[in-house]
Amino acid sequence: MKHIVSILCLALLLGMTGFPLGPARVAAGPAETAALPKPDMSGGMPLMEALAKRRSTRTVSGEPISERDLSNLLWAAWGINRPDGKRTVPTARNRQDARVFAVLESGVWLYDAAANALVKAVDIDARSRFGGAPLTLLYAARADDETGGMHVGSMYQNVALYCASVGLGDVVKITGRGGLDSALKLPEGYKILVAHSIGRPK
Ligand SMILES: Cc1cc2nc3c(=O)[nH]c(=O)nc-3n(C[C@H](O)[C@H](O)[C@H](O)COP(=O)(O)O)c2cc1C
Repeated sequence: MKHIVSILCLALLLGMTGFPLGPARVAAGPAETAALPKPDMSGGMPLMEALAKRRSTRTVSGEPISERDLSNLLWAAWGINRPDGKRTVPTARNRQDARVFAVLESGVWLYDAAANALVKAVDIDARSRFGGAPLTLLYAARADDETGGMHVGSMYQNVALYCASVGLGDVVKITGRGGLDSALKLPEGYKILVAHSIGRPK
């Protein structure tokens, strides 16, 4: 009995600290946040090889994305790559006015690049709304400003190249992208411009 109580306490403690993040099961802490592993900022496939491999993959398995890949994908999309807070993608006048969400089994999470963490935005499993891939990134930007789409284009290309470099399959879609716009409580004038689904090619 004492044993069972200890195991339950440990499980509760691990859940509260958000550890382990789990491949596609981000455990929410009390503040509904989950830390990501530090992204890899070196190594990887040579850029020209990744460009040669880049393509859309529409059929992926349900196998969860690893924590490491999740962190690297988010960093490629919208991470901070310099001490002055600038990012892996350029933005007009450095406005940095975009948002990236991760649709996982555990919910829909906003990427907080400065904290290298996820913040729970919607507590539902919305994967089926985006074709059922284990991970879909949603790129939100100002819909009333032509630069919004440009910023999103930079994000999905960075992510597509990362996918090509590690053998993940991905496809960007505008059809069905807006299913969560109201639930996500986006800033005024923002919309999800593209949904980017990612998984292991079947
Ligand atoms: C902005 C954008 C929107 C897209 N929307 C869709 C879509 O709604 N559905 C879809 O199946 N593919 C979509 N695609 C993927 C394209 O169909 C695909 O990139 C194109 O056929 C070229 O194939 P490739 O990516 O393998 O080079 C989209 C691509 C882009 C860049």
